[in-house]
Amino acid sequence: MSKPIENLAILGLQWGDEGKGKLVDLLSANFRNAVRFQGGNNAGHTVVVNGESIALHQVPSGALHPECFLVVGSGVVLNLEVFHQELERLRDRGVEVLDRLLLSDKAHVILPYYIAIDNWRESGSNRIGTTGRGIGPTYETKAARLGLRLGDLKRPDGLLERISNIYTETRLKIGDAAPLPAPEAVLKDLQEQIKPLLKCIGNAQEYLYDAWKRGESLLFEGAQATMLDIDHGTYPFVTSSNCSIGGLFTGTGLPPKALNKVLGVAKAYTTRVGAGPFPSELSGPVAEHIRQAGHEFGTTTGRPRRCGWFDAAVVRHSCRLNGADGVGLMKLDVLDGLDSIGLVKGYRGADGNTLTAMPSSIHDLENTEQIIEYFDGWPEPTKGVKSWNALPAQAQRYLKAIEEAVETPIEYVSTGPNRGEGLLLPGRSLT
Ligand code: IMP
Repeated sequence: MSKPIENLAILGLQWGDEGKGKLVDLLSANFRNAVRFQGGNNAGHTVVVNGESIALHQVPSGALHPECFLVVGSGVVLNLEVFHQELERLRDRGVEVLDRLLLSDKAHVILPYYIAIDNWRESGSNRIGTTGRGIGPTYETKAARLGLRLGDLKRPDGLLERISNIYTETRLKIGDAAPLPAPEAVLKDLQEQIKPLLKCIGNAQEYLYDAWKRGESLLFEGAQATMLDIDHGTYPFVTSSNCSIGGLFTGTGLPPKALNKVLGVAKAYTTRVGAGPFPSELSGPVAEHIRQAGHEFGTTTGRPRRCGWFDAAVVRHSCRLNGADGVGLMKLDVLDGLDSIGLVKGYRGADGNTLTAMPSSIHDLENTEQIIEYFDGWPEPTKGVKSWNALPAQAQRYLKAIEEAVETPIEYVSTGPNRGEGLLLPGRSLT
């Protein structure tokens, strides 16, 4: 009997931008369905095909495999204007997805008012360095039970009144800080944007349940990452959704037993965009080397990313939280050319004791001292290396130390942006 295909979740273990898109793209050829379950167009997944990179924000990265059915779950928030731009970019490359796409009728719609609130808040002292895409205010409005869901857009009744209420609340918040479109104009845009998508809107929870019961394989692609999770990340410097494992279940409506495996994704170093604590952050020439070699500039906003050493305390926390069965370690080649490579193995608290868990408060996190070990750089490049045995011994030692420190097996190591650049560890498999 052949081994059943597993239902697999791919989740970020650091502060996002780990390279999840490459893994999803690699794996989605083996999966019947690719599913997004949280986040919105704050996410940016870059996939490289035939040397050409494509940035996707809301369309699941499985889009590039024509056999893959795409599902956007209820936990996602959608900017319809941006969604159409993405569909257009895909069409330019000969990829059509409308005949294999299901958008949850429960997914919330990002309105221009939310973007105005996001930017207004970011101009004040509570700034956290958001992507400015209105994500936080969309989730706030959802929780306030005032939001618009895709399913609501199918019925015009009462829509104008609901949009007007959101307009009024927005004005109460931001005053005259920014011009706002009139509710009538917002409704008109939404009605135009929704028309071509109407046939794709439906009950994603039911579809996913049936697909699971039929034995169809499901690939769940997380957006952002565990340290940006609204509950378990470095609050308040987080996004507004649950990017760790719990968000998968609320954001699809599937039960936990529908999932067979969790693959965590981390870079061989650490980056973060936006403000907030980052214990292993570097400055100076090493940070610049990583930023340039790793093209560490935001996919969504173009902002230079903050760069630092691999922080095993962060990744261990994330592996535990998500129940990660394995780790995909990305961008090892970016460390090529460095003489010495640091690995943060844990933290010491203010009392000098080694911490056994990630501090809940960023104040405590900022007051820790890092326990750091340095490894020799490797003399030959790892770029494009395709087997464990072909890796320099120094790189193997570094990877083994990471594996031990994060208490989770590394299954795959990426050595370049293209599909073929990477290797499986001996005896390991991704699915
Ligand atoms: P928001 O999600 O736009 O509200 O931004 C909140 C925080 O999450 C900011 O620090 C953003 O830079 C960060 N963030 C949001 N999406 C991503 C992402 O896809 N990659 C990395 N950081 C992100």
